[in-house]
Amino acid sequence: MRILHIFIICTYLKFIANIDENEVNVWGPGLRPQEIIMPTRYFFIKLKKNQTNNELKVFLQGNKNGRLCRIRTNLLKRRDGTCIFRYKLYESCDILQINVMYNDTHVGKSPYKYDSIFADECNCPIDMNSWLHKWECPIVPEKILKDLKEFNEIDWNSLREQTINAFDKPGSISVCHYIIKNNLIYRRCYGKYTGFKMFVDNILLSLSRKVILSDTEFFVNLGDWPLSSQTAKYPILSWCGSKDSFDIVMPTYDLTESTLENLGRVTLDMLSVQGNVNMEWKDRIPKAFWRGRDSNKERLKLIDISRQHSDLYNVSLTNFFFFRDKEKEYGPKADHVSLFSFFDYKYQINIDGTVAAYRLPYLLGGGSLIFKQHSPYYEHFYDDLIANVHYIPIKRDLSDLTEKIKWAISNDKEAYKIAVQGQIFAVNHLLPTDIFCYYSHLINELSKKIISPIIVLDDMELVEQDTIVHCECRIKDEL
Ligand SMILES: *[C@@H]1O[C@H](CO)[C@@H](O)[C@H](O)[C@H]1NC(C)=O
Ligand SMILES: *[C@@H]1O[C@H](CO)[C@@H](O)[C@H](O)[C@H]1NC(C)=O
Ligand SMILES: *[C@@H]1O[C@H](CO)[C@@H](O)[C@H](O)[C@H]1NC(C)=O
Repeated sequence: MRILHIFIICTYLKFIANIDENEVNVWGPGLRPQEIIMPTRYFFIKLKKNQTNNELKVFLQGNKNGRLCRIRTNLLKRRDGTCIFRYKLYESCDILQINVMYNDTHVGKSPYKYDSIFADECNCPIDMNSWLHKWECPIVPEKILKDLKEFNEIDWNSLREQTINAFDKPGSISVCHYIIKNNLIYRRCYGKYTGFKMFVDNILLSLSRKVILSDTEFFVNLGDWPLSSQTAKYPILSWCGSKDSFDIVMPTYDLTESTLENLGRVTLDMLSVQGNVNMEWKDRIPKAFWRGRDSNKERLKLIDISRQHSDLYNVSLTNFFFFRDKEKEYGPKADHVSLFSFFDYKYQINIDGTVAAYRLPYLLGGGSLIFKQHSPYYEHFYDDLIANVHYIPIKRDLSDLTEKIKWAISNDKEAYKIAVQGQIFAVNHLLPTDIFCYYSHLINELSKKIISPIIVLDDMELVEQDTIVHCECRIKDEL
């Protein structure tokens, strides 16, 4: 157990080489605000073993033109003694000082002092290699290589019309055609419901302010169902992949949006989910908790199973849409429960909706034990998840779920270990920097496959930056 404990701590603190449990450790991308420019910056603080969160104070002093600059901050206290500090600059600051204090004494290398820190709105892209290096993500994710391997060379001059013909089915399919040229983004969408293009626009615009994106051309599927089949095998980017399709997966719109808008419009994100749980493992209720709509017949089956073992489950449907006629049988529908409250329970069930349940990143982040239904659908990170290490696998028909929950109840130490490893996985793979890195690599690798010239088409519109702010970009960085 001791060895395991050390292993967990070391993997978790991936940014620093040596952990001294007798010291306060402070680390993370938010401590390099000049190099890592993002909408909300964040870093971690791990207190000494005996210290409690109460004495910890983190505060910023920022100046612009001799006055305070506008910053929003947030300290998230995880239940295991690790804290996450987040801050969002609403404008660039001439000077920024980060103070991390315990019992009124500076800890770590505090105070951290910086000059000239850019807000995320600054348009100061640097070359891709330098950027990947600064963000500490030089290695291309395996999943991207695997998805792209299905396509040898992409010649859009011969594939473009075919792709549009195959997927232009207004009413059922919505796709957007993007071209990135000279770090500007152009697109044309096809289909009736194209609102979700904003998630793609926003991440591309955000990236293009940070890094010079390779010229490239691609299609994005705005719907949940994968589209690229054996009979219509076209390279198309999708939120969700499946074993019998060839879509190139990218992080879901949900995860993408919370990466860009955490501490802004979005309250549930990969950082808040760690800090807003109500209790640590030992105090969580040893039952499986689940809420969701009726988007899959196994979700109804879960209700059946729970009725035979009410001591093990607290599960309810929150909405009837797909099986309206079954509301009498499987209702009454329950009120919406905040995802943060899911973690009042030790066990969480991840069960497909129409496709993969996009809540899995958050379930991992909350530190409860996940029972994941076997599924042909996947998100961009599933290949890296290991059964019985990061989650407990369950059969598609849920027939072994009850037995496995019983196992967890009588093997609490093992169950806790897997729950912790699941959370560590989330911290190491699914935080905002990881999502930015994934998209950059994806665009980069995709561009390498394309052999046709990248030419903006007449019928495309330019996707423009929302706000233009003037920033004195550090040109010397590119040398
Ligand atoms: C930590 O707490 C334990 C028990 O409460 C105590 O014996 C030990 O001396 C403390 N260590 C430090 C460094 O304060
Ligand atoms: C805080 O500092 C004071 C004065 O240095 C000391 O007496 C006290 O024990 C400290 N409290 C904690 C919780 O470390
Ligand atoms: C199930 O969970 C809900 C939400 O946390 C709670 O209000 C309710 O009392 C729970 N039901 C049982 C039977 O424990």
